[in-house]
Amino acid sequence: MTANRPGVGMPARDQSDCQAPGAPSDSRTPEHSGHDLTAAFDDSGPLPSGVEKQRMVRAMFDQIASRYELVNTIMTFGFDRRWRRSLVRSLGLEPGATVLDIGSGTGDVARELERRGYLAVAADISWGMLISSRHQAHRAGAADGPGRRMMQADAAELPVATGSVDAVASAFALRNLGDLAASLAEAARVLRPGGRIGLLEVSVPHNALLRAGHGVYFNRIVPTLGALLSDRSAYRYLPRSVAYLPPPRDLLRILETAGFEMPERRQMTGGVVQLFTARRSVDSNGGGPPQQ
Ligand SMILES: C[S@@+](CC[C@H](N)C(=O)[O-])C[C@H]1O[C@@H](n2cnc3c(N)ncnc32)[C@H](O)[C@@H]1O
Repeated sequence: MTANRPGVGMPARDQSDCQAPGAPSDSRTPEHSGHDLTAAFDDSGPLPSGVEKQRMVRAMFDQIASRYELVNTIMTFGFDRRWRRSLVRSLGLEPGATVLDIGSGTGDVARELERRGYLAVAADISWGMLISSRHQAHRAGAADGPGRRMMQADAAELPVATGSVDAVASAFALRNLGDLAASLAEAARVLRPGGRIGLLEVSVPHNALLRAGHGVYFNRIVPTLGALLSDRSAYRYLPRSVAYLPPPRDLLRILETAGFEMPERRQMTGGVVQLFTARRSVDSNGGGPPQQ
């Protein structure tokens, strides 16, 4: 597999090179002003859904982008890097593989891929997160490497050619997606037959004691820390957003329906995170619903 495969986004040399296919021109501007995130993510109201969810999620990540990694590292005690390494290992990549990172954010997974010599293609709906990712990549010297391809895109509608990537990765993005089933079908479409997908997400420990401790930390301490270090409403949304995740068994089924086989799930670090893996079916129809 060559690195410069046509149809897999465009190399982004600077911020202006990030793609925003089909997006309105103002979507490149972080939506800091004019949006009352506190109201949308307030824990007394219903969680937003559909287009409204997507708009609010994008505005929220635009808003917290600059401190996102710092807050993550503090809140996870640095475990987040270990989890992303496990995600990359789970993909069983061949040297030089091209990997699509969905909901790439500030690019932690993309950087881990590049460190190991793979070509990362980063897709995210938040322009603010992509800009931070670009800055981080420059700081890490990635600008001298093959060049990360980045695109502002909705996971459910990727400007990526069918069957053009060797693997798909995603870390902590699933619960934020507007349409999970459509996004996984889209992942299956762009993945070559036999290629692997790895999806990392938050989870709840099985053990009752761990679950109680985790509940206090995730529901009380995380929002407080987030308010102190970054943005109050965004980090109140974080524990609430878990409600968007389907139960594990349903997610495994959604993966199969999307065009994947051998879906598996495992928990890590006492159960606080979960990793879903699967293989793109060789004989399915490009991520669409199974044909009769
Ligand atoms: C919690 S962050 C995770 C970022 C990064 N993967 C990491 O490991 O830190 C979730 C990311 O998903 C992105 N996202 C949310 N909805 C999306 C969508 N529909 N399509 C693409 N990206 C989306 C957000 O903008 C955000 O950058």
